[in-house]
Amino acid sequence: MSILSTLILGTGSYAPARILTNEELSKTVETSNEWIFTRSGIRERRIAAPLESVSDMGAEAARRALEDAKVSASEIDLVIVATVTPDAPMPAVACHIQHKLSIPSNAACFDLNAACSGFIYALDTACAMISSGRYKKALVIGAEKLSSVLDWKDRTTCVLFGDGAGACIVGATLEPNIGLLGTKLGAFGGSADLLYIPGGGSNKPATPDSIASGDHFIKMKGKEVFKLAVRVMDEAARDILEQHGYKADQISLVIPHQANLRIIESISQYLKLPMDRFFVNVDRYGNTSAASIGIALDEARKAGKVKKGDLMLLVAFGAGLTYGSALIRW
Ligand code: UT7
Repeated sequence: MSILSTLILGTGSYAPARILTNEELSKTVETSNEWIFTRSGIRERRIAAPLESVSDMGAEAARRALEDAKVSASEIDLVIVATVTPDAPMPAVACHIQHKLSIPSNAACFDLNAACSGFIYALDTACAMISSGRYKKALVIGAEKLSSVLDWKDRTTCVLFGDGAGACIVGATLEPNIGLLGTKLGAFGGSADLLYIPGGGSNKPATPDSIASGDHFIKMKGKEVFKLAVRVMDEAARDILEQHGYKADQISLVIPHQANLRIIESISQYLKLPMDRFFVNVDRYGNTSAASIGIALDEARKAGKVKKGDLMLLVAFGAGLTYGSALIRW
């Protein structure tokens, strides 16, 4: 079976209506707009409504991506959702979204957990499955409701994250040198305890005690994650460029994972690529983990920053600790 090239046919994103500003947060936890903005670049984030689920947000982003791609739900035969905040441990969010969008029952549907690198992992997985010729059109979604796993009394984490969803449609093409040119994925499993949720899984199921001690909330050693993030995202970017024989200045636009503006600025310095080649929306959404690159890609396109033929780099880093980069000729 021949290996087909794959490309992104359309994108979509969704952000919940509720905006939570730094000023508002500083009334409930000991922090300030000044601290949050200077340390992270975040000004506000979106918070899902209590009954708004990850599958609701993912389905809306997916609807918009289908419309953008001019692809009908009946053509989708693969749904991959990257998330660390599924509606429930089972079934997969992908199955709920399949149902919500009336995607046919012959579609393979599953979730994938690579935290903030999830969108790139899911994109790579979808592209590999389509390249094989066994699937025709994939719906790739990154969706998170991180507000549901935050300790709103812990100022070291609750100010950083937000909710939302990003999606894209992936298909095959016979056109050469276009679409996904390559990816580099990896992980440092030994550093898993720098960013994790200790409870609520099979190792430490929810009990009154685990809930009382906040084991179902995100724990993060921010400073250590920061240092690793900068080093590893820089390496992941360099590796993929080198593998494909490109220099950083040939990149028209980098879509980095939106965790912290200072991380993005450091990568810009390391790659010697000016900040105007980096898409940034962390100021408006905070860190939306697996949704971040999908939302940023969609917003970059809608802002006219992505043109046919452009060389683009996606790069991410997250819990696991996972990392990923992808090189795309649009
Ligand atoms: O998606 C990938 C995963 N996540 C990341 O990439 C996050 C990576 N890390 C970061 O973005 C940064 O490390 C943070 C934004 C989390 C923190 O910035 P920092 O410059 O590394 O600050 P810090 O953790 O060293 O804290 C400095 C001080 C501490 O006080 P002391 O010990 O110096 O007295 C903190 O207690 O700031 C204090 N602090 C706060 N103060 C006001 C921590 N959080 C807050 C807060 N408001 N929200």
